[in-house]
Amino acid sequence: MDNKFYKINIYGCQMNVHESEKIAGILEEMGYTFTNDDNLADIIVFNTCCIRENAENSLIGHVGALKPLKKKKKGLIIAVGGCMTQQNGVGESLMKTFPFVDVVFGTHNLHNFKNLLENRIKTGKRVIEIKEGDLSICESITPKRTSYPNAWVNVMYGCNNFCTYCIVPYVRGREKSRMPSDVINEVKSLINEGYKEITLLGQNVDSYGKTADFNYDFADLITEIDKIEGDYRLRFMSNHPKDVNEKLVLAVKNSKHVCRSIHLPVQSGSTKILALMNRKYTREEYLEKVNLIRRHIPECAITSDVMVGFPNETEEDFLDTVDLVKQASFDGAFTFVYSKRKGTKAYDMDGHIDEAVKKDRIMRLVDVQNAINREKSKKYNGKTVTILCEDYDDKKGFYQGRDEFGRMIYFYSNKNLIGEFVDVTVVETGGISLKGEIKG
Ligand code: 5AD
Ligand code: SF4
Repeated sequence: MDNKFYKINIYGCQMNVHESEKIAGILEEMGYTFTNDDNLADIIVFNTCCIRENAENSLIGHVGALKPLKKKKKGLIIAVGGCMTQQNGVGESLMKTFPFVDVVFGTHNLHNFKNLLENRIKTGKRVIEIKEGDLSICESITPKRTSYPNAWVNVMYGCNNFCTYCIVPYVRGREKSRMPSDVINEVKSLINEGYKEITLLGQNVDSYGKTADFNYDFADLITEIDKIEGDYRLRFMSNHPKDVNEKLVLAVKNSKHVCRSIHLPVQSGSTKILALMNRKYTREEYLEKVNLIRRHIPECAITSDVMVGFPNETEEDFLDTVDLVKQASFDGAFTFVYSKRKGTKAYDMDGHIDEAVKKDRIMRLVDVQNAINREKSKKYNGKTVTILCEDYDDKKGFYQGRDEFGRMIYFYSNKNLIGEFVDVTVVETGGISLKGEIKG
């Protein structure tokens, strides 16, 4: 058989990056080889995201741009999957808008992707499959991992929280935890294969096991994984502040491999807005969780997601957010402008905020976090830290890696150190990323 090539375009979060590794695994098993070139590809897959409007808009543009190629190359298969297709009616409307798209599949149809493709190839007919309801966990897909020395491992799927701005619970269904033994065995084999940093993934890892029929929580899981011998780091994301408790913090503290770094999305610093968001904690309760972490693990990095422009956010509410960001002194924050998502509760709320006001607030918030980053960077000056060398940046001519607190450090080396733990001394500090030199 001639070589057949696939390309995958990924949108959105880490969850999607890992899911794309599963799609790649299926395609490789079918005999396809990866390419980065649209012209060479026999199949192009779009793994979509719908968490914010801009991700959707860029998908529409990219799929549309393939029309001429599809005209030229009749055998080319274009498949669109992931969160966006799972929204009410969106899968069908994608099929209508783009008559040259061959396969549309939902978030819960990944395990059937091979069949869908084979169907398309055999019958020549366009296929759409979007399963509603709960996910049935599929343990039989072997992902084609693309981020050595890092590896992602799902611990759970879906979300039960229904934050009023968020589309995730509608497109990924209710929480489903994998069996502890499945997770532990996957991590064990990754460590045996030489992976050095394992990140456990879930929309809200702190509720691991809560809806399952086993009596085992996330703290139990990381404690058990930590017993696996080897030279590796363990990370996890994302957390929900309402579910972070002392048991989890102590599990991190007492572990050998878990990084002292916790992602704790706050979203807003205003108790009024948090209630409208259905976050189930107040500003004070959030800060108490920050204290809990810092009381037990003073050096622990805490990062966050912060949103501006949620409906009814006044200038005063926004200033509460700015104040909280300063008080919590985050070691990094992803900042977002609220994006209206059809089907969520917030979509139908009164009091949507003017775009210009949102823009002004995000710029002010980013300035505040940047100033915190610069201050924290200064503390790195002259310090020697251990980083895991993860990649080589062709453009900059530097290797790059992160310390256990998640700080990215660039450094020069004449030998390939990807996958090794390296001691570097920080010689230049600017914004959030630092420049270092290898010790000795
Ligand atoms: N608009 C803007 N940001 C959002 N997020 C989730 N939904 C929206 C939305 N509708 C952000 C939250 C979440 C992160 C993954 O994405 O901050 O923590
Ligand atoms: Fe969305 Fe909230 Fe669930 Fe996170 S916890 S995925 S923000 S609904």
